[in-house]
Amino acid sequence: MRSLLVVFTLIVTAFTVPIMAAQKIELSIDTSKPGAKIDRNIFGQFAEHLGHGIYEGIWVGPDSKIPNTRGIRNDVVGALKAIKVPNIRWPGGCFADEYHWRKGVGPQRSVTLNPNWGGVTEANTFGTHEFMDFIDQIGADAYVSVNVGSGTPQEAAEWLEYMTAAASTALVKERAANGHASPYKVALLGIGNESWDCGGNMTPDYYVSQMKIYSRFVRNFNPAQQDKHQMLKIAVGPGGDGPRWTDWTETVMKAYQQHTWSWDINGLSMHNYTVVHWPPSYTSVGFGETEYSQILKSTLEMEGLISKHSAIMDKYDPEKKVALIVDEWGGWYAPLPGSNPGFLVQQNSLRDAILAALNLNIFARHADRVRGANIAQMINVLQAMVITDKEKMVLTPTYYVFKMYVPFQDAMFIPVTFDAGWYTHGTVAIPRLDAISARDTNGKLWLEITNLDPNEPVEIEAALAGITAKSASGETLTAPKVDSVNTFDAAKTVTPKPISAKVQNGKLNLKLEPKSVTVVSVEQ
Ligand code: AHR
Repeated sequence: MRSLLVVFTLIVTAFTVPIMAAQKIELSIDTSKPGAKIDRNIFGQFAEHLGHGIYEGIWVGPDSKIPNTRGIRNDVVGALKAIKVPNIRWPGGCFADEYHWRKGVGPQRSVTLNPNWGGVTEANTFGTHEFMDFIDQIGADAYVSVNVGSGTPQEAAEWLEYMTAAASTALVKERAANGHASPYKVALLGIGNESWDCGGNMTPDYYVSQMKIYSRFVRNFNPAQQDKHQMLKIAVGPGGDGPRWTDWTETVMKAYQQHTWSWDINGLSMHNYTVVHWPPSYTSVGFGETEYSQILKSTLEMEGLISKHSAIMDKYDPEKKVALIVDEWGGWYAPLPGSNPGFLVQQNSLRDAILAALNLNIFARHADRVRGANIAQMINVLQAMVITDKEKMVLTPTYYVFKMYVPFQDAMFIPVTFDAGWYTHGTVAIPRLDAISARDTNGKLWLEITNLDPNEPVEIEAALAGITAKSASGETLTAPKVDSVNTFDAAKTVTPKPISAKVQNGKLNLKLEPKSVTVVSVEQ
């Protein structure tokens, strides 16, 4: 009777207690073979005049009750400073090709329209000086997109003279009268935006002829930017997969190969959102494992796209002088019910944190060619870092990924090899694990590991060649559910927690929670 009871208990236990035997994955990190520098600009942001991205998200005006400095909200500035935003792309997006900078300078601002995004008016109270003040407050560089679609080379040239010149010209006097005597720095210049679509529906050949004119005449006159801090000119590049886009890249790069002293480009942009079906129909909250796995599968297509376009660039630019700048990327989902569909409002979940980590890792693995990227968009729009509602602000799971990745800014890429195994769900099969490693400017080794599997933990054993490791510590980001989010009332649901790692016999051991992003540093 007694032995029968034992057997019965064992059977019941076997069926009720989940077996959490973690998968074991061995990593091999070789610090003696560093790759390219992971350019800090891959952590760039994008702020378009769209919905509440600028107005309310950044700009509340000097008379607002929301604490601000010259009209720019202090809470948002504080949050963005902490993630060391390297550059901000502004004023669009599609908005850039209908933006006329003169409406946004001086004491009188004219109200215009924003036909692309929600059919609202544009107050133009946030213009050149306010943008420059904002990036100065957070310590970022300016990535300014000029209007190629509905503007003129003269308008763009004058804007650059207004912003960057030091000599006593009429435009410089006007800038000084508007409050800024010294020249502004413009680190990156976008020559149009999606000129194949909202930016003017141009053919590749037509765009190339426009690009040459803008490259020639839209000059940066800032005396501090004439040599090594030269402004980088970014041409419009592909916007997806397929022959239309490879043809675009071929045309621009072929032209670049023939470029003369009179014009040049330093970068080619690429736009690639994780959407699955267009128009975006996946929800940003209230989804399950099926949508989780499908979105992650789709986002991993970034790898193939970058490889394909890098290969074309290699043909015309084997020295990799022209950077690939993925200046719009991220998850694009259905607008939140009740929001203006033109405002592109969505929530941001643990799934987005994992999506962000996977893309940042892809960029890092292509660090020799991908030297810039801008997630869309920084505040209140698409895959945002920050969500605001009047005086309230909440930081998203994606924000915390950018924070955890700060040590990777300008760090040297270190190769990591591993057999990731597979996470499968329904018809989806994707690698169970992703990882990158890098050595920061102080020589410290960093490791990022993402466990994509939402159900199984993973045990890591990482062999560290080329260093004598003593200890390791770090942070991990996970949450109860794949669609867990941070809200104004529960702002800490998806926030990083410390993780303990063990170093023994030169190997690093740690256990990763299911659906998690982990960053650890190694003490030597
Ligand atoms: O980020 C939203 C929009 O997506 C941008 O304005 C445009 O460039 C892209 O199509």
